[in-house]
Amino acid sequence: MTRKILVTSALPYANGSIHLGHLVEYIQTDIWVRFLKMQGHTVHYVCADDTHGTPIMLRAEKEGITPEALIERVHGEHSADFRDFLVQFDNYYSTNSEENRELAGAIYLALRDGGKIATRTIEQYYDPVKNMFLPDRFIKGECPKCHAKDQYGDSCEVCGATYSPTELINPYSAVSGAAPVRKETEHYFFKLSDCATFLQQWTRDGHLQEEAANKMGEWFASGLSDWDISRDAPYFGFEIPGAPGKYFYVWLDAPVGYMASFKNLCTRLGLDFDEYWKQGSGAELYHFIGKDILYFHALFWPAMLENSGHRTPTSIFAHGFLTVNGEKMSKSRGTFITARSYLEQVRNPEYLRYYYAAKLNGTMEDIDLNLEDFVARVNSDLVGKYINIASRTAGFISKRFDGKLLAVKHPLIDELKSAAPVIADSYEKRDYSRALREIMRLADLVNADVAAAAPWVTAKQEGEEAAAKLQLDCSGAMEMFRLLTIYLKPVLPKLAAQIEAFLNVPELTWASVEHSFVSGHRINAYEHLITRIDPKQVEAMVEANKESLQPSPQAHSEQRHAGHQQNEAKAEAAAAEKDWEAFISIDDFTKVDLRIARIVDANHVEGAEKLLQLTLDIGEDKPRNVFAGIKSAYDPESLKGRLTVMVANLAPRKMKFGLSEGMVLAASDERGGPFILSPDSGAQPGMRVK
Ligand code: MSP
Ligand code: ZN
Repeated sequence: MTRKILVTSALPYANGSIHLGHLVEYIQTDIWVRFLKMQGHTVHYVCADDTHGTPIMLRAEKEGITPEALIERVHGEHSADFRDFLVQFDNYYSTNSEENRELAGAIYLALRDGGKIATRTIEQYYDPVKNMFLPDRFIKGECPKCHAKDQYGDSCEVCGATYSPTELINPYSAVSGAAPVRKETEHYFFKLSDCATFLQQWTRDGHLQEEAANKMGEWFASGLSDWDISRDAPYFGFEIPGAPGKYFYVWLDAPVGYMASFKNLCTRLGLDFDEYWKQGSGAELYHFIGKDILYFHALFWPAMLENSGHRTPTSIFAHGFLTVNGEKMSKSRGTFITARSYLEQVRNPEYLRYYYAAKLNGTMEDIDLNLEDFVARVNSDLVGKYINIASRTAGFISKRFDGKLLAVKHPLIDELKSAAPVIADSYEKRDYSRALREIMRLADLVNADVAAAAPWVTAKQEGEEAAAKLQLDCSGAMEMFRLLTIYLKPVLPKLAAQIEAFLNVPELTWASVEHSFVSGHRINAYEHLITRIDPKQVEAMVEANKESLQPSPQAHSEQRHAGHQQNEAKAEAAAAEKDWEAFISIDDFTKVDLRIARIVDANHVEGAEKLLQLTLDIGEDKPRNVFAGIKSAYDPESLKGRLTVMVANLAPRKMKFGLSEGMVLAASDERGGPFILSPDSGAQPGMRVK
């Protein structure tokens, strides 16, 4: 039975680059979609950029361009990143589209007419200099609990307290620095509390993973509050129909973006939109998301759909967060890796696809990219086990038998074929890790079989019998290689296409498992298919992502917290946290302890491409050891004895080459550098720079 299936991945924000964390999701979804398509189902995979909201508006302003220009540029970048990682959307659209404006408006009007919208006057902080209301994350001040300075408007990073921005002591706007004033404004609310009965039922009806359903249980226990869906101008987004000057909060129109992208695809392909979205639709609808946005997809979204005459999702598939080498991605460690830098340094996207697949199991557990393991795993599985089968046998077929195969009967071929249902089941359940374990187990058996047959020995023997055995053994290996290629194709689509050309077979689908090579089938000459990853490429990638020269007072803005957002404030918070580099206050600045340092020694570091090792005297008992990425610009000899400026209160950082106990300051941009700083004469080691 062929199924009609619509699949989405979460819409990435249109103001940042795609990074390896994002790719966990897009690769996970793409593998699933490719698998279902190989099974012959009708599958549409849509996505879009999430383009609205305050952070995007302010980001554009900071760059001196319009939001439209910003989102257009980013759309180009995101599309190229996805294409190059072989993430094959059927449509990659934008939430800033006419389709989305219409659909979001229509859903809102249906909710309003159904009595699900209320208005209330609320008091909010307002920036009197920028003339705008401030989202919580754009207000900072002193924590009301522990009195730490410069904490965000919703929670304290020092003591962990959560509070409302009005409780902050001496609040200031992170946009202008001005003291915000409190101002009344009318807001529109979606009465989520009215939907409690429906939602309690829906979340328990098997649409969610067990862990997610449990999380929902906790949220219900703490009560559902109404959802604030409006924002005041200035706001980059859609004006609410019948409410001049009020705009849809970005999270209202973002999930509608799934529909809008599909609608746009329907227009292009002549598909029936309602067949997929009308209440009672027989089509399947799946959303892949990260666990941080579960609240929006498992509560707000089904409630919006249910109350506007639409069908609700078949399932929501939430995944965990990516860690690199066991830790949160970090710009200073160079593990906040952009999609583009991976492509530039490591190049082959299928290595990462394979590694993620090997780690993904369909649960909400975080997944770790261990860079050493990544190299070892890819080299051993893909090169050492899988491709090895062809590289050890195909040459004989070309050279000795004019590329011609024999049909082969072999118990191991039967075993490979009979594994298809287990592998298919694992893919369907998103347990790719289980699928790949099974595939690699089979690859091991095939390798053992090839080793036992030892075609390289047979090839040296004279006579027809030996020749027949050689052709048969190698043909058997090619048949098994073909089967493994089918199984790996959802993960490695490009390699599979190259292999289809080499094997001279039409596009492999899941049904191709049933077929076999017939005697006389002619394959093409074997060409080298894949190379080992050199650990140096991975090192270079990490180096390229390191922000080690500039101390980053916004280090926390590197990554959104992996926690669960329980309300809309948190969502805006997360967006702002990731996207907005706030102005820093004088207090932030004085936290950085800058010292005059004498470079008492400077040396090359064996094996490091960019680093020099510096020994710095800052008037302490023991000199500091610091690694600085300045090798390209300085001969170590020329540095000895010089004075410079270092950051002295950074936590020591363990690097591959040793412990780094600080950072030297240097200037650079596309015009050149790095240039390290020097004080005027008279400065002494250890003097504080203020
Ligand atoms: N714009 C919202 C989603 C709106 S969907 C109607 C958003 N964008 S995002 O760019 O922050 O994230 C896009 C997706 O990538 C989310 O599902 C998010 O969970 C996922 N990831 C972002 N960083 C991630 C990791 N470090 N690890 C794994 N997934 C991550 O949220
Ligand atoms: Zn605090």
